[in-house]
Amino acid sequence: MDLGVREDFPILRIEVNGHPLIYFDNAATTQRPIQVINAIKEFYETLNANVHRGIHYLSREASELYEGAHETLAKFINADFEEVVFTSNTTESINMVAWGWALHHLRRGDRIVTTVMEHHSNMLPWRTVAELTGAEVVYADVDDEGMPRMDELESLIDEKTKIVAMSGMSNVTGAIPDVEGAIRAAHQVDAVVVLDGAQMVPHMPVDVRKLDVDFLAFSGHKMLGPTGTGVLYGKRDLLEEMRPARPGGGTIRDVTLEGVEWAELPWKHEGGTPNIAGGIGLAEAARYLMRVGMDRIREHEKELTRRGLELLSEMEGVIVYGPKDVERRGGILTFNVEGMDPHMVGALLDAQGIAVRTGLHCAHPLHRRLGAEDGTVRASFYLYNTMEEVERFAHVLRSIVEGR
Ligand SMILES: Cc1ncc(COP(=O)(O)O)c(C=O)c1O
Repeated sequence: MDLGVREDFPILRIEVNGHPLIYFDNAATTQRPIQVINAIKEFYETLNANVHRGIHYLSREASELYEGAHETLAKFINADFEEVVFTSNTTESINMVAWGWALHHLRRGDRIVTTVMEHHSNMLPWRTVAELTGAEVVYADVDDEGMPRMDELESLIDEKTKIVAMSGMSNVTGAIPDVEGAIRAAHQVDAVVVLDGAQMVPHMPVDVRKLDVDFLAFSGHKMLGPTGTGVLYGKRDLLEEMRPARPGGGTIRDVTLEGVEWAELPWKHEGGTPNIAGGIGLAEAARYLMRVGMDRIREHEKELTRRGLELLSEMEGVIVYGPKDVERRGGILTFNVEGMDPHMVGALLDAQGIAVRTGLHCAHPLHRRLGAEDGTVRASFYLYNTMEEVERFAHVLRSIVEGR
């Protein structure tokens, strides 16, 4: 299945090292379609002003567009407008929950349950607030495919558990854990679930109502949007009780020398002049994805992944990480070539115009657990990648493996 979207992505026409670019670094950041680029350009050319502050024409127009962008993102994940806070990325979204909610709700002896699979951005904020509050962080192990052990996760969730923090899709193995099971288990003890959706939201349909998740964090730049954009979704009551992690201009209704009355949601959590053009670009990206259809994107990536797994498994000396079953795995192929440094493999692929990521992908504990302390090579797909690209990548990789 070809989604017929490549023409919209100008960068995909460039050549790298004399070869047509094959961009397989989508888990790090994606490319932007012309519609997103134009939305940002048009904003700066015709409507640029600060939001929520002015009564003049440009400020009113800019405010309307910026608020509309929240509506679009709310629709994208089936949330209400008030529940969508714009941030700069997933890392900031998670930190806002850590500093605005967890810091004020955790007591000595409370538990934060998470997994060995997590990206550092969904690990270090919890460790830091745990240190400050006396709470403990406990980790469910993963199996040899890198999938969190759900039985272990559920057994760690006890009466002391206040937060369950986990990713909806691993940025290393592509593993898609049973998030719904974890949410049910957490809610039985009234724990709050923070879902790291950095890899999940851009690649599959996500409905926060259906999931019944409490907080969801994701990044705009991993879903065709501009860098410096992200979202924190939170259930309304939780966002109401959460303190602004960035209090300041724009977050208040009134301030006296004695006190403060916070602004209504979501503005209470958007301190300072926001990334207005970025938010507008992000909304354009979400509209683009909705037009193509998240179901179709997921199916397309499954096809590419299935073929990629098949081709890699035929190569002797290639170790592939992650689940074999594409139903439990996103469009991420992570591997190593025996006897070769992952960076060397990445450099040889780059010489043929193929962009992959090498290293520890901000998930050092998971790499240790998988016995890949020196890192891995990661090829990650998106809606504009094609079967031909997967086959050419496998062809080039085969020649690297054979020439080692
Ligand atoms: C699973 C996961 N969580 C969090 C992040 C952090 O995202 P950002 O760098 O946009 O804050 C990433 C980025 O790669 C990720 O893959």
